[in-house]
Amino acid sequence: MSQRTLVLLKPDTVRRGLVGEVLSRFEAKGLSLVAMELRTIDADQADRHYAEHVERDFYPPLRDFVTSGPLVAMVVEGDEAIEVVRALNGATDGRKAAPGTIRGDLSLSNRENLVHGSDSPESAEREIGLWFPSL
Ligand code: RTP
Ligand code: MG
Repeated sequence: MSQRTLVLLKPDTVRRGLVGEVLSRFEAKGLSLVAMELRTIDADQADRHYAEHVERDFYPPLRDFVTSGPLVAMVVEGDEAIEVVRALNGATDGRKAAPGTIRGDLSLSNRENLVHGSDSPESAEREIGLWFPSL
């Protein structure tokens, strides 16, 4: 079943010059780009995006990180795109993520873990509406 999901290439991906490397993995998998934009977000947008985490201890440094510079927000589409993107991204902690995944190959951090992918159809709908309200 074709799905849409929100993907973020977080500020570490942009700073490290890995946008092309990471984007090419999604393209090579066969996912289609529906929307894509380079954007620097403020704390309010970070809080809306990570609404489920705002009260957690780990959130303040996460907010500082995701607002620290430009990121690439995109909507990608394809068969079971939500699960496929999460599998390509790998486990949250780059130190534990499997080799072959984006985080497993390219990240050594639980915070600077390069990518975000919506975790369910409900999250995808909410996040696409938040980042790309015209879609
Ligand atoms: P993301 O939302 O960023 O794509 O990552 P995810 O689904 O793999 O992980 P999630 O549970 O949604 O957590 C969001 C971000 O919060 C940081 N985190 N730190 N216990 C901790 O220290 C902890 N748990 C989560 C990570 O940076 C994760 O990307
Ligand atoms: Mg998440």
